[in-house]
Amino acid sequence: MVAFVKFLPILVQIYAVYGDYYTPSEEVGEELKRYDPSTDSRYPFELGLGRYYQGDIMLVPPEGRNKDGRVSVPDSLTSYIWPNGTVPYEIAGNFTPSELRTIQNAMRMFRRYTCVRFIPKTANDPLFVSIVNNNTGCYSYIGRQQNNMYNLINLQTPQCLMAVGTPVHEMMHALGFYHEFVRPDRDDWITINRSALLPELQTDEIYDNNFRKLRFEPMTFGLRIEYGSFQVN
Ligand SMILES: *[C@@H]1O[C@H](CO)[C@@H](O)[C@H](O)[C@H]1NC(C)=O
Ligand SMILES: *[C@@H]1O[C@H](CO)[C@@H](O)[C@H](O)[C@H]1NC(C)=O
Ligand SMILES: *[C@@H]1O[C@H](CO)[C@@H](O)[C@H](O)[C@H]1NC(C)=O
Ligand SMILES: [Zn+2]
Repeated sequence: MVAFVKFLPILVQIYAVYGDYYTPSEEVGEELKRYDPSTDSRYPFELGLGRYYQGDIMLVPPEGRNKDGRVSVPDSLTSYIWPNGTVPYEIAGNFTPSELRTIQNAMRMFRRYTCVRFIPKTANDPLFVSIVNNNTGCYSYIGRQQNNMYNLINLQTPQCLMAVGTPVHEMMHALGFYHEFVRPDRDDWITINRSALLPELQTDEIYDNNFRKLRFEPMTFGLRIEYGSFQVN
């Protein structure tokens, strides 16, 4: 998805401290309330760096993981994949009509350019994505989670719905995509400039946790990430 390439030159003006990557952060929300797209070069989903994995990805908390530390229940590599490219969803936040249109426009982009379909959930869908708007930034979990409380996209309003790109971006995470900047071949294409991070984020820990490349059996701080949820197009 071309939209992702635009995420690459971020890594500046980050304004957060190291977090655990699985706790919704009101600090991120407060900072996002002050976000001014006319003067801020960042995208709204970049403000969580240091608190959310890679900036806007929420991980399942340790108690929700399997004994062996896996993020989900990967009976097969396809457990993170939404069957038939169909993602049931419900709108559970308090969105204005205009914000709802932006969400619908994002879903329409998937319909137009991909085989993915977001469809309103029915009683027959135990697993579905809830779209909410708590004041904790823009984020999503990765892929289809077996515990439905982790099938969730948070789009703080109005900031995460000022443009269609942000909901599209978060929906990509819900589909199972990580960021292009952790692709195994990323070094062939880009350089990560650690000096461009805020000083407090220029630690090996932040770098390893957020910018390390995914491999065929990638490890992130002890969590095994299933390669099937990471796709290179
Ligand atoms: C698969 O998704 C398509 C829409 O993309 C739908 O028309 C079809 O009924 C779905 N098939 C199943 C078995 O759910
Ligand atoms: C959203 O906020 C409500 C009300 O404060 C809270 O009950 C709920 O757990 C929050 N959801 C998430 C995903 O943070
Ligand atoms: C890396 O970022 C620093 C700080 O913004 C900048 O001074 C430097 O020129 C950058 N290096 C490269 C190779 O772009
Ligand atoms: Zn993202």
